[in-house]
Amino acid sequence: MAKTIGIVTSGGDAPGMNAAIRAVTRVGHSMGLQVVGFERGWDGLLSNCCKKLTPRNVGGIIQLGGTMLHTLRCPAFEQPGGTETGAETLRINDVDGLVVIGGDGSFRGALELGKKSDTLMVGVPATIDNDVYGTDETIGFDTAVNTAVNIIDKIRDTAISHERVFIVEVMGRKRGFLALEVGMCVGAEVILIPENPMRTEDICTIMDDNARKGKRAGIIVAAEGFGDSSKLAQEMQRQTEFEVRLSIVGYAQRGGSPTARSRLLASLFAERAVELICEGKGNMAVGLQKGAITSFDLEKSATNKKVLDLRLLKVAEMLAI
Ligand code: F6P
Repeated sequence: MAKTIGIVTSGGDAPGMNAAIRAVTRVGHSMGLQVVGFERGWDGLLSNCCKKLTPRNVGGIIQLGGTMLHTLRCPAFEQPGGTETGAETLRINDVDGLVVIGGDGSFRGALELGKKSDTLMVGVPATIDNDVYGTDETIGFDTAVNTAVNIIDKIRDTAISHERVFIVEVMGRKRGFLALEVGMCVGAEVILIPENPMRTEDICTIMDDNARKGKRAGIIVAAEGFGDSSKLAQEMQRQTEFEVRLSIVGYAQRGGSPTARSRLLASLFAERAVELICEGKGNMAVGLQKGAITSFDLEKSATNKKVLDLRLLKVAEMLAI
């Protein structure tokens, strides 16, 4: 039976990470476990920087964005000797199970660390990109979608007044899950995602056709990973009759108070993660599949690419006539 569990938040932060830290700590305590939090992502395991977490010192954080443990991208952890040092830190602190809260990169880190350590590794998916294999949704995704939707609704007002086309760039360096859902929810005329390359001429044709149909303004939602949004704005300005503006939503999507849904997922994922550790099950991740909280193989999750349902893009197109 596990006695001590560790928590680390790693990679890009996501709203709801604090709710997950709180839930792991409190569920752990109610099961009689000690809980330690490693600070600044994997760096906390390299430098043995950790603090004791108690039901009291994780109070008042469920509604806060960011992560009280801090996070960073930590290339040093991937260097030779990095995971060995991390494993030694876990041994020194008698950590029986480590809950790794982060995205696919963090899961890969957990997988490598698990090869060097006896500590049970359990991944809790948290990223605004929603690109973790094995789970339909990640902690923070719903908040980021709502943040972007609120901003784009405001942009739509000025787009209509001035009869302009706005390209709104949302996050998603590699994947288009966020852009697709945001685009559908704001009624975007075009959604641009890395999974569906489009030529500038074709985007211009859609907007020109819209103008002929009487649509004098428009919103194009582009994932940052689609391409150079600024160049696209310039090209569209040149090739269409529209005045085109670019607006980048940026890091606001990573912050802010988590929505009820992000808090709920965080709490339920955390509970399942602690349960797995108590059952002695490592190399696992938790997630949501068809509405149910579930667990699956960490290696499978860390090494597979989540498929984006391109049919949603077709639905969005039908809705944008
Ligand atoms: O957290 C994921 C993500 O938001 C990506 O969509 C984005 O490209 C990336 O992080 C940028 O984060 P950073 O500048 O912290 O590396």
